Amino acid sequence: MKDFTFPNNFIWGTATSAHQVEGNNINSDNWVMEHLAGSAFVEPSGDACDHYHRYPEDIALLAKLGFNAYRFSIEWARIEPEEGEFSMAELEHYRRMLAACHEHGITPMVTFHHFTTPRWLMREGGWLGEKTPDRFARYCEKATRHLGDLMGGACTLNEPNLSALLGYLLPFKMNEQPWWPLAADTFGVPPDRFGSFLFADPTQAHEVIVSSHRKAVEAIKSVGYDFPVGLTLALVDFQCIEGGEGLFTKIRYNTGGNFLERLQGDDFVGVQTYTRTRINADGLMDPPEGAEKNQMGEEFYPQSIGNTVRYAAEASGLPVYVTENGLASEDDTQRVKFYRQAIQSVAQAMQDGVDVRGYFCWSAFDNFEWVSGYGPKFGIIAVDRETQVRTVKPSAEYVGKLARANKIRME
Ligand code: BGC
Repeated sequence: MKDFTFPNNFIWGTATSAHQVEGNNINSDNWVMEHLAGSAFVEPSGDACDHYHRYPEDIALLAKLGFNAYRFSIEWARIEPEEGEFSMAELEHYRRMLAACHEHGITPMVTFHHFTTPRWLMREGGWLGEKTPDRFARYCEKATRHLGDLMGGACTLNEPNLSALLGYLLPFKMNEQPWWPLAADTFGVPPDRFGSFLFADPTQAHEVIVSSHRKAVEAIKSVGYDFPVGLTLALVDFQCIEGGEGLFTKIRYNTGGNFLERLQGDDFVGVQTYTRTRINADGLMDPPEGAEKNQMGEEFYPQSIGNTVRYAAEASGLPVYVTENGLASEDDTQRVKFYRQAIQSVAQAMQDGVDVRGYFCWSAFDNFEWVSGYGPKFGIIAVDRETQVRTVKPSAEYVGKLARANKIRME
């Protein structure tokens, strides 16, 4: 058994997104969707982890655990509450958050858009709207002008490929759900123009999203700072089982390859992986009989991240950050096992020559898991929903210790 030592400048972080932890993100499309009759969301996000107010203690705690980076998103719906109206107070809020990171020796990686969209943009067709790429780029530029000197890295869009992935993974179509026309109507658009980032038809939205990313990279870089800029992708570790070659190639391309080939000009690709899925001639397969599962019913397969960083690096030609990796589980012993094996698989890929620059656990806190509400526990820190008291789990101590040592024992 040998230790693998990570490069000196490797960053170790945790990740969150504004809507999932801040609370009361009332000007976003998600807030509206959470409150619709027959909503797809099992419960509304409410106060979430009240991270909007509690970030000083939260960031201090992450630093104390041993982490030296934090990936979080700034909320477009707060920063530009109406088209063209930018809130200096909200930009200043995020400036204070970034400053708090620096005070604690934490490199902040900022995501400009993590699933939630301002209501006004949804009224104009959201991620199906022609003007969206320019609007997104304008917001990114304004935010970078105000915050860029404190940013350590930037992700434009989080998982723009997720709706394509959901198209294969879900047994039903979101736009055929009864709440869909209601949601569209709330934003004053016909159902086929309801451009939700999470649920819009991926084929229709693809060009708007790719163009939004490209313009955003240009806009962020035009401000003149030199932090790395990229996007993050949800990459399932698809594995081909004999006979499934054709489908495997098609599904992997339609759910990620089609983005990975269009990242020229970016500085990195962010990889986010939670499990594997095998594909045979009949399509996506269930987990093997008797396989260990996570709380979402997916296969417990920590080494999937090692496989996806290899694929992403090869398909994009770019350096990789693991911008999210983690486990939904009530059992933190299972989570410690997950992180050990997952990080070993990343170390193995690095040993084999893959350029990985950092690793972020998803997530810092138990938080609002979108349609599934507060049930799934992804956090390395628990949050009491009534009192907002934070409790550090052993998995936080475990990864924090690896971060401090900057090495892992290989098995
Ligand atoms: C998203 C997170 C989400 C996580 C776990 C990723 O798809 O970026 O927002 O909570 O996966 O499902």
